Amino acid sequence: METDTTTGISECKISELEKFVGRKVKIHGWLYVKNTVGKISFLRIRDSSGIAQVVVRKDRVGEEIFEKLDKLKRESSLVIEGVVKRDERAPGGVELGAESLTIQSPSLEDYPLRKDLSPNLVWKYRHLFIRSRIMSIILKLRSSLSNMFRNWLIGHGFFEVDAPSIVTAATEGGARMFEVDYFGKKAFLTQSSQFYLEGAIFSLEKVFCFQPSFRAEESKTRRHLSEYWHLEVEASNMDFQQLLNLEEDMITSVVNEFYDKHRDDIRRFNPGFKPFEKPFKRITYTQAVELLKDKGVVIEWGRDLGVKEEKLIATTFSQPVFITHYPKQVRAFYHMPDPENPSVVLSADLILWPYGEIIGGGQRIDDYKMLLERIVESGYNPDDYSWYLDLRKYGSVPHSGFGLGFERLLAHILNLPSIKYAIPYPRTQTIVYP
Ligand code: 4AD
Ligand code: MG
Repeated sequence: METDTTTGISECKISELEKFVGRKVKIHGWLYVKNTVGKISFLRIRDSSGIAQVVVRKDRVGEEIFEKLDKLKRESSLVIEGVVKRDERAPGGVELGAESLTIQSPSLEDYPLRKDLSPNLVWKYRHLFIRSRIMSIILKLRSSLSNMFRNWLIGHGFFEVDAPSIVTAATEGGARMFEVDYFGKKAFLTQSSQFYLEGAIFSLEKVFCFQPSFRAEESKTRRHLSEYWHLEVEASNMDFQQLLNLEEDMITSVVNEFYDKHRDDIRRFNPGFKPFEKPFKRITYTQAVELLKDKGVVIEWGRDLGVKEEKLIATTFSQPVFITHYPKQVRAFYHMPDPENPSVVLSADLILWPYGEIIGGGQRIDDYKMLLERIVESGYNPDDYSWYLDLRKYGSVPHSGFGLGFERLLAHILNLPSIKYAIPYPRTQTIVYP
């Protein structure tokens, strides 16, 4: 809120109008709905904070502007000065009686997004769809949630480190990368910043980043984006059990804080949402296979769990579940083998339904020779990982970390029909515009 000292008019957001009953204010907004009856026009105006009812009388604002208003199309931008009155029928319980109205920029054509929003229109006009009420609420929630993760991590002694998006080697398997022509050399868009965070722990010990990861997999599911925001965390001298505790502490406290702060909005999307409760159920991959077999699923030990299997496990428990100790052949090469049973690795996925895997993480191999062997055994060229191997040459330490799919978590909390609603401009196999 700002007050012009010469005119005494307060400039305010629509959500603040209630505080100004009986006073003159100025708002900036966009035309949402218009209904003219004779010499009075009823407008619904939206800004980032809400929707206001504005009453425009011809004798107040003048004939010329009233005529212009009559032809005005949806989404035209306006500046309105007027007096705030109480009116129980109006949204927010107040209405603005316009005394002057300025058309900043009239919409040049009919607004393409109407009430019947077909999915095709929504994706084609994504740049306009984000103006909708529903998207503006989601985007505000998204901003708040990412802030809470940052604050939690910084409050727990982590430093934010930024990693490059253009890299030269895979972290999560070569088949799923976007290639980049990098001044005539082959490079890729990063799948994960993990290796760069591993490098940074030797400087800062506890680090995180929040930035996009890129996946070129051909998945057209509700939970896959080809560019998603990845919250990655890495810490030195942290073992596997400490890692699981950290994941559990962070996600329960952030999600519950988020729920407390935005209960009404969250409930509007997801009336059945239940805050997370510690401790989460922890089952090993081997126990998960047993559980699946008991439920009649045909599965061999050693095969990765698919969507169907994850669904069965996640829906067996009403809270998030950790699946731990996966067979080493279904996990990336950097995972630490379990000293008690080297056929499995110290890695864990946190799963939920319907968005499946929300977090993937584990303890890293910190021994030079062991890592070199696993790189070769997995069919990679050690030369491509020379700098990563270096990290084990100079004062290596036990360390662990994880990556959280930010849109999957937000889509889960809000029970969105697709992850595509959890990001302003989604990138998927079929969407790269706008
Ligand atoms: O399980 P992922 O592939 O693990 C890694 O990338 C590790 N290097 C992370 C780490 O330890 N620092 O990805 C981590 C998380 C998944 O659990 C999932 O939530 C999300 O990233 N994710 C996706 N989200 C949206 N669209 C996709 N295509 C995703 N692929 C993974
Ligand atoms: Mg994973």
